[in-house]
Amino acid sequence: MNDENLGPRSVRDSQSEMTEIILPNDANPLGDLLGGRLMHWIDLAGALAAHRHSRSYVVTASVDHIDFLVPVKIGDLAILRSSVNRVFNSSMEVGVKVWVENYIADTAKHVGSAYLTFVAIDGKGNRLKVAPVVPDTDEQRRRYDDAGRRREIRRAELERRRKAKR
Ligand SMILES: CC(C)(COP(=O)(O)OP(=O)(O)OC[C@H]1O[C@@H](n2cnc3c(N)ncnc32)[C@H](O)[C@@H]1OP(=O)(O)O)[C@@H](O)C(=O)NCCC(=O)NCCS
Repeated sequence: MNDENLGPRSVRDSQSEMTEIILPNDANPLGDLLGGRLMHWIDLAGALAAHRHSRSYVVTASVDHIDFLVPVKIGDLAILRSSVNRVFNSSMEVGVKVWVENYIADTAKHVGSAYLTFVAIDGKGNRLKVAPVVPDTDEQRRRYDDAGRRREIRRAELERRRKAKR
């Protein structure tokens, strides 16, 4: 990454949207979307925002817990919206919000949200510094502040697990 890539960028530059139609191969025998399939899409949707913001390769460092609030059925549309909440040094927190849309009933419901941390790397796997992200709206500022609190919780939990292994 060259220095001109390190200028601050707006949250909206990373905003991404991915839509999937739920097909039988995505579902269990009752016709409900598999949780693992949705987790895969969440990872991809998160990576879109991380790539767009950092303009680099990224790896997923962690995914915070995910609640599945409502079922998603075969034939529904899953809509995944992602954006960078906050950048630290080489890592950034991305939020992914998932919606289910039924175009026959004309309904849309919130399925769940997830926070993922991506680390920017170059083609040889070396970590890269990431440009800061600038929140422009109250909602983006709230997510930015919350991301700082979540990072502290993640670091404390990682440290606790490392100590428990010794
Ligand atoms: C993620 C990875 C690059 C971190 O490497 P590391 O040697 O632990 O690096 P560091 O401790 O120096 O941390 C680098 C950054 O990652 C962050 N990080 C590391 N582990 C993390 C975790 N579990 N959750 C969130 N952030 C994490 C650090 O906070 C740091 O952020 P900063 O640079 O913004 O301050 C490394 O563990 C890795 O390559 N993992 C495999 C990634 C992968 O293959 N993912 C696909 C799924 S298998």
